[in-house]
Amino acid sequence: MSAHIAHRRVGRAVTSVSRNGVRGTAARVGQWGVKPIARRLYLVEEHVWLVVPIVPEGRALPDGYVLRLGTGDDLEALAAIGGVSTAVGQSYLDRGAALYVAWRDDELAFSTWIHEGAVPVLAARGGLMPLPDRVVSFEDSIAAPAHRRSGIASAVIDEVTALQSRAGATAFITRIAVENAPALKWAESLGCRVVATVRLRRIGPWRRVRIEAAPGGEPMASMLAERL
Ligand SMILES: CC(C)(COP(=O)(O)OP(=O)(O)OC[C@H]1O[C@@H](n2cnc3c(N)ncnc32)[C@H](O)[C@@H]1OP(=O)(O)O)[C@@H](O)C(=O)NCCC(=O)NCCS
Repeated sequence: MSAHIAHRRVGRAVTSVSRNGVRGTAARVGQWGVKPIARRLYLVEEHVWLVVPIVPEGRALPDGYVLRLGTGDDLEALAAIGGVSTAVGQSYLDRGAALYVAWRDDELAFSTWIHEGAVPVLAARGGLMPLPDRVVSFEDSIAAPAHRRSGIASAVIDEVTALQSRAGATAFITRIAVENAPALKWAESLGCRVVATVRLRRIGPWRRVRIEAAPGGEPMASMLAERL
């Protein structure tokens, strides 16, 4: 099977909106000048899903940066650099997601979330996509604008994949909006492999999810199709 395409139509209200979904919607609503209430009525978003390589001896953190697990105390700084809101961040922490933060002096430079067991995904039923055992998902990676192109983002991803694989993870996945060219370039530079493109269209309570496998990405695309 060179491509796996799944179409699903689910006749029930989708009430949970992941941050990416809201952001995707907001961008489109902004373009169209439509009132925010339209976010709940109409949404189209398309993400590329990728497998992130495990790099046991990866890039070293650039000088001056310190990586650690984040806590609730990091959430305001995270929101301030454009990451998830403190409320969303707290909900991620409450459900057991791991927050990694890289600071330089008193500046939050980069942050990423690791989800195990299930990951918030708008396209999934109930807004959560269950993950297979030992498959973990990177979400909401963000570098503070002043720290972009410093190499900190890539070094943290290498470090986190190494740490998490030592803790038992065997595969890492992530998703990037198709229109997010800089992030896609970044993923390419990390050696990520595209496994599928997922397109979600939602009109009121109706949603349709289309999953298209990339060559060689069929097993991961099937995993997504079973869970979304
Ligand atoms: C995506 C993001 C995390 C990358 O952070 P970064 O600090 O630029 O990453 P790095 O410094 O590790 O970049 C490494 C490489 O990625 C590629 N890259 C990163 N940004 C790029 C851009 N804007 N254009 C082209 N290539 C880019 C380059 O190959 C770069 O190497 P180089 O600087 O030697 O050319 C950052 O742009 C960001 O926070 N964007 C907003 C949030 C987002 O879109 N997150 C990803 C989706 S969840």
